[in-house]
Amino acid sequence: MGPIYHFLAGDHARLDALLQRAFADPNQIDLQAYGQFRAGLLRHIAMEEKILLPAAQKARGGEALPIAAKLRLDHGALAALLVPTPTTAIVASIRVILAAHNPLEERPDGLYQACEGLLAGESEDIAARLRSAPEVKLAPFNDGPQVIESARRALARAGYELKM
Ligand SMILES: [Fe+2]
Ligand SMILES: [Fe+2]
Repeated sequence: MGPIYHFLAGDHARLDALLQRAFADPNQIDLQAYGQFRAGLLRHIAMEEKILLPAAQKARGGEALPIAAKLRLDHGALAALLVPTPTTAIVASIRVILAAHNPLEERPDGLYQACEGLLAGESEDIAARLRSAPEVKLAPFNDGPQVIESARRALARAGYELKM
């Protein structure tokens, strides 16, 4: 496994642990841990969408990887679920998506190994760019009436059903 795989799969594990910590006590969400998870997942998504997927597409002569569209839909659903104040139902949906999404990136024929192959000569460079990606500026939670509906639509586009 190369440097892109190591860094991003390690970030998946770090984010999983933060989410676990945030919901360790189901009666009281640890909002500090959840805040770190939220910021970290948004940054992770930005690293993949703004650095990794474009680099892979460039290495393929401008043609996106076949898996890229599905990954972007999953990212859209995850980002939509990070908008409202977390509830156990919202976090259950986040867990379902991550459990399906992360393997698409980590498995031997997944995104990260495809990128290691495509970007063989520059994978150290790409990993360095990923590591130095900026923090994402977080908006406060938004519990407006349209938020759950737009999350529901984002999940449907990605092939999931949001159970509230
Ligand atoms: Fe992803
Ligand atoms: Fe990822």
